[in-house]
Amino acid sequence: MTASSIAPARPHWSSRLMFVFAASGSAVGLGNIWKFPYIVGENGGGAFVLLYLACLIGLGAPLLIGEVFVGRKGGEFPASAFLRVAREKAMSRLWGGLGALGAIIALMILAFYSVVSGWVGIYTVDFAQAVLGGDAARSGADAFSAMLADPTLQLSAVTAIVVTAGLVIYYDVTGGIQSVMRYVAPLFVVLLVAMLVMVAATTGKLGEAFTYMFQPDFSALSVDAFGEALGHAFFTLSVGMCGMLIYGAYLDDEANIPRLGISVALLDTAIAIAAALIIFPIVFAFNLESNGGPGLLFIALPQGFTLLPNGDLFGLGFFTATLLAAFSSLIALMIIARHWLEETLNVSGSSATLMAAGATWIGGAAVTLSMTVWDSISILGLSLFDFLDQATSSWLLPISGLGMAIFVSRAIVPDMPEGPVKIYLRAGLTYIAPLGIVVLIWSKAVGF
Ligand code: TRP
Repeated sequence: MTASSIAPARPHWSSRLMFVFAASGSAVGLGNIWKFPYIVGENGGGAFVLLYLACLIGLGAPLLIGEVFVGRKGGEFPASAFLRVAREKAMSRLWGGLGALGAIIALMILAFYSVVSGWVGIYTVDFAQAVLGGDAARSGADAFSAMLADPTLQLSAVTAIVVTAGLVIYYDVTGGIQSVMRYVAPLFVVLLVAMLVMVAATTGKLGEAFTYMFQPDFSALSVDAFGEALGHAFFTLSVGMCGMLIYGAYLDDEANIPRLGISVALLDTAIAIAAALIIFPIVFAFNLESNGGPGLLFIALPQGFTLLPNGDLFGLGFFTATLLAAFSSLIALMIIARHWLEETLNVSGSSATLMAAGATWIGGAAVTLSMTVWDSISILGLSLFDFLDQATSSWLLPISGLGMAIFVSRAIVPDMPEGPVKIYLRAGLTYIAPLGIVVLIWSKAVGF
């Protein structure tokens, strides 16, 4: 399909609020609830939070806004969108490659994202059974390892989630997301706020968690912290992969993209901070490990829940909220793969959806098997899971982010009306992003 064959008449969000819901549904996910708290814990708290906020404001939000602009101008198919805008600006056709890069990263992320979403699903069902009077819910390191060692359980969870997500997209991209997000977004926010209030009341440790999160201790920062903060700023805002580009394509011409983009970034940040302020008080109240890494959500937190009055109910609320967030991000990731497959293989949207869901399932199954049956396999000394996580967050996302920053600063920013927004985007995309990303890649490749 060529860029010019994209029909300008495309579906639109039923309102701009729906764009904010859908884009936040993409941004708010396991990155906020699972990853953010544990990397804050691994990097010692406040100083890392500051560094992360700086990356978010300096590079993340400008890129998010830039991506949405490219989508509105170029249409909902990633590679064609870049090509179309590039052609108009007499820039190279190679920029279309950013679409392919985005789709490859999406598929790599999906492979482990579907597995972690599956774990969240397993814990949710478990807490629900506990609330209904069944056995005690899963808690502690042994229960987590037992789940990791069970390929059948994990594969069933991955299958259930991928099939459901596939159906929502198959049904109709914007319509599917809108009908899901209309209920998911309010339910999610209510659950999160209720959890925050209840945890603060029962543990009495909210103050301590606040201090931990917002009082910087720069001695706790390692050199790698910058890379982690930057990679996570991209990951959590879902930028650098054309997901926001696709959603931008469904926006009307009058929508104020910078304002919408900032709302999404603010919501995403508020939710990450709220999640951390739910998790750390529990960790502190029961002297659990705050630097427990990826297990924080699945080991320390459920342990804390079992010690709280009505803990099963807390657990159910928390894991349900996490599942909703993970699911809406999974949909957004699959949509990237779908759109790119559709334009590249020139197949119908429904076939592309089937392929994207199939590829996600295969990736999820491979990650599951690599942790269980094939656990001796490693790539560059890493497990498949860690390889996919690190390759995407530390390398591929920054590289495609750099490409997009350069593209937007040349193709979009010059045409913007003079004013503070243009100054902000130019600063972020022309100067801060390239500098930050080059320093990051250099530090990874050569070390300091
Ligand atoms: N932002 C999501 C999260 O925090 C993960 C993610 C990264 C994503 N890139 C994406 C989701 C692209 C959808 C589309 O969990």
